[in-house]
Order: sequence, then structure tokens, then C-alpha cells
Amino acid sequence: MTTPSLLILPGDGIGPEVMAEVRRVIDWFGDKRGLQFDVSEDLVGGAAYDVHGTPLHDDTMAKAQEVDAVLLGAVGGPKYDVLDFSVKPERGLLRLRKEMDLFANLRPAQCFDALADFSSLKKDVVAGLDIMIVRELTSGIYFGEPRGIFTEGNERVGINTQRYTESEIDRVARNAFELAMKRNKKLCSMEKANVMESGILWREVVTKVGEDYPEVELSHMYADAGAMQLCRWPKQFDVIVTDNLFGDLLSDAAAMLTGSLGMLPSASLGAPMANGRPKAMYEPVHGSAPDIAGQGKANPIACILSFAMALRYSFDLGDEAARLEAAINAVLEKGVRTADLLGEEGVTPVSTSGMGDAILAALDESL
Ligand code: IPM
Ligand code: MG
Repeated sequence: MTTPSLLILPGDGIGPEVMAEVRRVIDWFGDKRGLQFDVSEDLVGGAAYDVHGTPLHDDTMAKAQEVDAVLLGAVGGPKYDVLDFSVKPERGLLRLRKEMDLFANLRPAQCFDALADFSSLKKDVVAGLDIMIVRELTSGIYFGEPRGIFTEGNERVGINTQRYTESEIDRVARNAFELAMKRNKKLCSMEKANVMESGILWREVVTKVGEDYPEVELSHMYADAGAMQLCRWPKQFDVIVTDNLFGDLLSDAAAMLTGSLGMLPSASLGAPMANGRPKAMYEPVHGSAPDIAGQGKANPIACILSFAMALRYSFDLGDEAARLEAAINAVLEKGVRTADLLGEEGVTPVSTSGMGDAILAALDESL
């Protein structure tokens, strides 16, 4: 078997700091578990713009298409606010998602026991929470045409188009049903079929795909009601499938249920490649947090958990993923906390690399 390849794109803000800790974890798996990865690194976002004048160089795009998995840190920052829309850091990320056709974005929202007090919701609402949002990632209003700012009469009009084909809905729905089969066999689909034709079609197609998964209990909810239910009693959900924009909003809300955005990973998956592995990119849900960049305050856990998702979904190493997740859990149980998680008594504050040290130590203990 050839050595699996990983392309690392640290990006902007806290991206490089948290990714440095991921690299230590990758090295640990190489040294201690004999899992070698062929790792290369490149630029994305503002970091790429600074060097190439574009948030994603064509050569980087080509590399991303070839590797077994891409790991991305975060993109964006105030320095780039003034740039033209077409070269903003986010365009690099969106190009990767679109050109790699990463249509299924898996965003788990899991509440670690040690952090249950951290949520803004009551402890019994979030303790033990473990849900998965499957967000459609390559279509809908993010990419629909027509789009732009046009002139109509004597004023301008901003236009974006929500657009979904049956096949686009079908493939992401299938992905969500497959996941539901591996979990609690419960799937809730969210749209706004009461207002949007794309929502009517979404509901129809998801229902049809459901006929192939009779064991899965399928329900439908309007996305606004879904947002409300997520805050009221999130444990009623297991897998949620929704479109690109609703998924963006709902996943941020779900993420915060767990107490910190600094904890949540994501996987963006496409169709299988020739070697059977899905095209894939893994990234933390949090952004580039420019306000704390370079100060050793960032929490590297979301990015490290994204690598755990890579082990599970790209490399079929579910046991090793579980080892890494358990190590993180153990560290949290010991009260080790980065700056985003301070506040409780008796905890040990650590820097970004201090958290990396603690996780590596816990990994050593797992042997
Ligand atoms: C996300 C982010 C992105 C999105 C931005 C950075 C383009 O909010 O991954 O959720 O809107 O998809
Ligand atoms: Mg978002």
C-alpha cells in the first residue's frame, strides 16, 4: 500500500498555531503507531493572497485534488476586509469545497462531560449530547446563479439564488441516511417547505430516498422551528440533514450548545476516488479568531479532532480515531483548559502548545 497523503493548509489567524499541534499528533501516530503519512503543506486564504495575490493558487488546488485528504486550519482576518470579494480569503475555501465537490459536510456537536457546565444552557439539556449535522456544501444559495449586485432603474439590487437539483439533494440525503444507519437510526431533515419551492423539492426527495432506508425513522422540520428545538431540547435529535445556508446557521448554533466553538471538528466529503477513499477535507468549525492569533490562547482541540475524523472517514482507522478522542477526553477530565474554557475552579490553564503537550502525554498513556 502506498503511504497515504495529507495536504495541510494552515491558513490565517490561529490556523497555523492549532495546525502546529495537529502536526505533533500526526508525528506521534507515525512514531508510536507506525502510521506514516506523506504530509505536505501549502497556503490558503489571506496567507496565499499575501504571496500569490489569490486566496488559492492553481497549483495548491491541483495538489488538493490529488491527495488522500486535506486538513485546513482557518481563513480570513480584518486585514483582508478591504479586498475585492473575488479574492477574499473565504473564496479560497469555497473554491476547494466546490472544485473537490465536497457535497456532504459532517458537523458533529458533542458535549464532553467535563465541559457540560460550560454551555450557556442548563447542564441537563446538554450533558451527553451527541448529534451530527449533515450540511449540503456545494450548492444552494452559496453557489446558485444568477448572483451579483445589479442596477435596476435608479438603484442597485443584490441577488443570490437558492437552487437545488434532485440529484444534489439525493446524494447528500443518502449520505445522511447511511450515517443514521451507523448511529441511532434517526434522521431529521430541515428546510422551509412552507416558503420555498427548493424546500418542497428537498422534502420530496429526502422522503423518496428514505424508502431505501426503512429502518431509519425520518422526520421533517421547518428550519426555523429546528433552530428553536435545538436550543430547547437538542437531545431529541441524532442526525440532521439540511441545505448549505441553513446548515451554516444551525451548525453554529449546535456548536455553541457544547460550550465552545474551539471543540468542534468537521469533515467535508465527496464522491469516492479511484482508491475507494472519499475526496475529503477536514477543518475545525471555528474561524481564524484574529483577535487572539499569535498569543498561544487558541484551543487546538477542534483541529486535532478534525484529524481524528480524517483517521475515521478517510483512512478507516476508527480505532485510532477513538484513541485520540479518548486522549482528549482524558485531558479535559483532568481539568486542563485553554483560555476559551477557563472560569471553573480548580482547572489548569494551558497555552495552545501546552494543550498539545497534554494530549500527547495522554496518547502515550493509551499505549
Ligand atoms: C463555515 C464558514 C464558511 C461558510 C465561511 C468562512 C465561508 O462560516 O464553514 O461555516 O459560510 O460556509
Ligand atoms: Mg459558518
